[in-house]
Amino acid sequence: MYGGAVGEVIESADPSLQAGDIVLSGAAWQDKFVAKANTLSKLEPFDPDQLSLYLGTLGMPGLTAYVGLFKFGEPKPGETVFVSAASGAVGANVCQIAKLKGCRVIGSVGSDAKAKWLLDECGVDAVINYKTCGDLNQALADVAPDGVDVYFENVGGDHLQAALNVMNPYGRIAACGMIASYNNAEPAPGPNNLMLIVGKKIRINGFIVSDHGDMREQFLSEMIPWIQEGKIKSRETVFEGIDNAINAFLGLFSGENFGKMVVKLD
Ligand SMILES: NC(=O)c1ccc[n+]([C@@H]2O[C@H](COP(=O)([O-])OP(=O)(O)OC[C@H]3O[C@@H](n4cnc5c(N)ncnc54)[C@H](OP(=O)(O)O)[C@@H]3O)[C@@H](O)[C@H]2O)c1
Repeated sequence: MYGGAVGEVIESADPSLQAGDIVLSGAAWQDKFVAKANTLSKLEPFDPDQLSLYLGTLGMPGLTAYVGLFKFGEPKPGETVFVSAASGAVGANVCQIAKLKGCRVIGSVGSDAKAKWLLDECGVDAVINYKTCGDLNQALADVAPDGVDVYFENVGGDHLQAALNVMNPYGRIAACGMIASYNNAEPAPGPNNLMLIVGKKIRINGFIVSDHGDMREQFLSEMIPWIQEGKIKSRETVFEGIDNAINAFLGLFSGENFGKMVVKLD
């Protein structure tokens, strides 16, 4: 099973890597492996006690947030940004970066504890608990009286429908993922308001982060100082041991994770 992993080189026959080097790999779900040096990225961690940040806020999910928001959401100061799965590995970064760029930010999450963290710790302006809010369309309209200019889409289905209803003309949707439908045995019914895309002249961009490695340097140059200055907060849920990897993976679909889901190996 593919997955990002941070680990330590035990032994190396390649002069570009030494035993003890910390590397990022895409070969997770195994505790030891042999790899060609050019398939590993050597890290120069800014804090050796926070290596897992390179799987979350400083890694693929953080870059996904950065690329999706700036390249496809194109938020301007004062605009309203709506983020679904807002406390997750991607979403929490989108929320906080958008705040740093002067936007009003609305998140949606599946628990009151997640909502409280976003409001109290991350400075998000309004959060909807989609599991308890009743009609999501109405709940979003209530907290977005001036409409939504950018929707960062992580969930799909009812969230896309609600976002389209309140989006302003020339709104932008960064279509990052649609986790609500990943395990559907049957195709889910689509939003019934897609015609709004036409009248509101909404731009929807799907994207895959691996196409945008060219933004990594710029991303790190902004993100590391933000973390060091306490401007970007991160949460993690840590499962112990490779035997728990499958439980960690499945937990993503029931919201068991609070922030980045990490499996720690001995
Ligand atoms: N395009 C790309 O290159 C790219 C890269 C990375 C990730 N992604 C996508 O980005 C999205 C977020 O990924 P992530 O790594 O940040 O995951 P995550 O948000 O850390 O974890 C997934 C979260 O989704 C929420 N969720 C699960 N099922 C849901 C449902 N049926 N309705 C509403 N919310 C649901 C849960 O939070 P709640 O408790 O709040 O419900 C869960 O904690 C996913 O769709 C993922 O596939 C795309």
